[in-house]
Amino acid sequence: MIDRREQDVIYLDNAATTRTKPGEVIEAVVSAMQSLGNAGRGANDASLMASRSVYEVRSLLAEFFHGEDPARIAFTQNSTASLNMAIKGSLHPGDHVISTVLEHNSVLRPLYEMEARGLELTLLPCDEYGMVYAADFKEAIRDNTRAIICTHASNLTGNVLDIRSIGEIAARHDLLFIVDASQTAGVFDIDVEEMHIDILCFTGHKSLMGPQGTGGIYVKKGVKVRPLLTGGSGIKTFHKEHPEDMPAALEAGTLNGHGIAGLGAAIRYINMTGMDLIRRQEQDMAWYFYENIRDIPGVRVYGDFRSKNRCPIVTFNIGDCDSGVIGDDLLMNYDISVRTGGHCAPLMHQALGTASQGAVRVSFSHFNSTEEADVIIRAVREMAVSSC
Ligand code: ALA
Repeated sequence: MIDRREQDVIYLDNAATTRTKPGEVIEAVVSAMQSLGNAGRGANDASLMASRSVYEVRSLLAEFFHGEDPARIAFTQNSTASLNMAIKGSLHPGDHVISTVLEHNSVLRPLYEMEARGLELTLLPCDEYGMVYAADFKEAIRDNTRAIICTHASNLTGNVLDIRSIGEIAARHDLLFIVDASQTAGVFDIDVEEMHIDILCFTGHKSLMGPQGTGGIYVKKGVKVRPLLTGGSGIKTFHKEHPEDMPAALEAGTLNGHGIAGLGAAIRYINMTGMDLIRRQEQDMAWYFYENIRDIPGVRVYGDFRSKNRCPIVTFNIGDCDSGVIGDDLLMNYDISVRTGGHCAPLMHQALGTASQGAVRVSFSHFNSTEEADVIIRAVREMAVSSC
């Protein structure tokens, strides 16, 4: 039995989930659990309170992503659920889709499933920095191209794509533009209107700092997503078909009202603290870490560091050491938590040449400190000397 108190561990796996949540989030979940009924499922006080709470958070999210109408946001349990809806619910066999090697399996696997049913798929390769550029998408467009689907930022390298320019290309060619904002929602400004985003998929538990089991999908007015689930909706009970109106169309079954209340508190926290300030703090910490490890002999850092406009992620390896061994050493000898291995990003690893070694991913939240960064810098220096 390891005698380690989780709160003593330096948590640097925020790209997987932010472990430290604002106190307001925890209070909101507890209070919701003590008071809310089932949203949209009755006229009793508790149910109405839940409906109001859900509507408020929908409105907060619409405002946060600059969407025109809160009803265009449906709650889901995470990005994977949203991406499955977006991909399987809006594409058809025979459609050509452009995506990238940066994608997470939550994009790739639904796409592969659709490919087996006749979808034509182009996965854009990246350059040596792990980057894909707007012009690459333009060149891949064919007569039957129906959609561009891409991540806003790689969960492996932290590279951020130029979503605005890619969106302009999609709009100019009348293509559906689906964005996976798993790593950016809550820390990078996302304007669905200006960026020409038709469908935005996001999770609540990463940079939005909400509870796990929360997330959502924004669907632009006029865009139709076929539901993967049908069932109880609280409205049109005597119709055989599930309602087509958003958000009910994509919200079959009881919502995670407790989690959604927590997500609302998280967004209020971000709005109050300032997303730009949060991003700057995180980026500064990541950059400080990067600058202090990049020249250590034996250390290899992956990703595009030509720009500071990156997710607060620094991914590296030490010599030929298995990334899992480095991660174990960091935990056992330095009390530091990171994520190692494949990160559900198989094509990105293949492109970087790290498929068998994996990589060590360090990801910061604004609750981390420079002192914590100093601890892992020292750890990497020491491990690079002893190697594995
Ligand atoms: N997608 C999450 C990650 O990158 C879990 O770690």
